[in-house]
Amino acid sequence: MREESARAMATMVDQSVPPRRRVRASYRRLLRRVRAAARRLGRAVRDATPKGLYARSLLIIIAPVVLLQAVVAFVFMERVWQQVTAHLTAQLVGDIAAIVDMLDTYPQDAGFAEITRIANERLGLNIAVLPPEPLPTAGPKPFFTPLDRVISRELSEQIGKPFWIDTVGRSNLIEIRIKLDDHVLRVLARRSQTYAPNSALFIAGMVATSVVLLAVAIVFLRNQIRPILTLTAAVDNFGKGRPVPDFAPRGAREVRQAAAAFHAMRERVERQIDQRTAMLAGVSHDLRTVLTRFRLQLALIEETADVAALKSDVDDMNRMLEGYLAFARGDFGEDVAPTDVAALIDELGEAGRVSGHDVRGSFAGDPIVRVRPQSFKRCLDNLIGNAARHGTHVVVAGRHTDGHLTITVDDDGPGIPFEEQEAVFKPFYRLDDARDRDQSGTGLGLPIARDIARSHGGDIALSDSPLGGLRVTVTVPA
Ligand SMILES: Nc1ncnc2c1ncn2[C@@H]1O[C@H](COP(=O)(O)OP(=O)(O)OP(=O)(O)O)[C@@H](O)[C@H]1O
Ligand SMILES: [Mg+2]
Repeated sequence: MREESARAMATMVDQSVPPRRRVRASYRRLLRRVRAAARRLGRAVRDATPKGLYARSLLIIIAPVVLLQAVVAFVFMERVWQQVTAHLTAQLVGDIAAIVDMLDTYPQDAGFAEITRIANERLGLNIAVLPPEPLPTAGPKPFFTPLDRVISRELSEQIGKPFWIDTVGRSNLIEIRIKLDDHVLRVLARRSQTYAPNSALFIAGMVATSVVLLAVAIVFLRNQIRPILTLTAAVDNFGKGRPVPDFAPRGAREVRQAAAAFHAMRERVERQIDQRTAMLAGVSHDLRTVLTRFRLQLALIEETADVAALKSDVDDMNRMLEGYLAFARGDFGEDVAPTDVAALIDELGEAGRVSGHDVRGSFAGDPIVRVRPQSFKRCLDNLIGNAARHGTHVVVAGRHTDGHLTITVDDDGPGIPFEEQEAVFKPFYRLDDARDRDQSGTGLGLPIARDIARSHGGDIALSDSPLGGLRVTVTVPA
């Protein structure tokens, strides 16, 4: 009851809207629906089309060629077939009309033997004059019988007598029966007398040329696309810090330009790194020499409380210097090599246990991964060192699946508040907390670790650990 009145209300409301606005609203609805359908169609087409450049280019070349050939072939064959059939049929029916006339004109021919002979020898028609029985009923026709239509039209036009035709029954003969005044004329004609045989040769030739075209397109495209694939692999390797073999720019001008630009960029980056490394080596050598001199001089002085403090300061300076240098060096010099990451985790865990921390390690999947061994070890060492410093239990878990190496380092320490989780990756950034005051750190551990992960094409993320402290996740494509 209530529903009904609601509906009545709705119609009332609907009717209260001016008609023009109603039309506009339904137009908008229709437009929305059409747009949604177009989007769905676009998505389906996108899903169905191949993703690779090679396959796509082939499709772009082949689809129009095949379409064009198909259209041309269809139109051409249709026209030719129709014209040839019309001519041939008109001729055949003309011959039959002549025979009909002769039958009418020379009824004295005994059994029409002469006319039959002439038809057979001169016109290539097998005729028989039958007694005047009724014509058979028309048999079922296939759906597409343009030949029947053409013959029927000619027969009605040229002879104008009741007829029956069978173009389907016998494979290469067609049969025509015409009811004359006191006979039935049966004509058996060869199928080839009525229409041009299907141009199988024409189609075969077209398919053959298409195949040849396709083969040529494949060869050319492959040559054009190979340099792009080489360049892609080179850029990918360079991004992941792997060695990039030299390759000569090839292919189309734009591809060659891209390859040349990549070479120039790589050279510039490598030159910069070399420069930086050389400068840092010089700086570290000079500073270390001075520090060593300090240490020696301090060792010669009598050991007092002040001297001990100085020595500790010099040690701190030494450690910080190593840290800065390690960060600035970035370890670009090292090459990637197959590295047993499971063994690396075990080794670091053992080292942690020796220095009195509870570190447990595990690994799943293929432990051999292509990384820079020394840098990667430093990265993990920094993370495990942090975890051990802030927590009492540390769990390191590695996993190598689906082309990714993932290592999580969990601890049960105080963790890092979410708003600080990005900031701690800044160089020299340390959480200004009472817990850290006694600890000597430079705030470079995490930035160095992230730098190393990124130089492998991966990254480091922080989150909360199920152990209660911090979880650090290192992901590297491998
Ligand atoms: N596992 C952790 N739990 C809690 N806080 C952490 C953890 N790891 C790092 N932090 C915080 O993040 C800050 C930055 O860490 P980072 O490793 O970069 O520097 P550091 O450990 O202080 O010094 P360094 O590693 O250079 O000796 C640290 O000061 C620390 O407060
Ligand atoms: Mg640290």
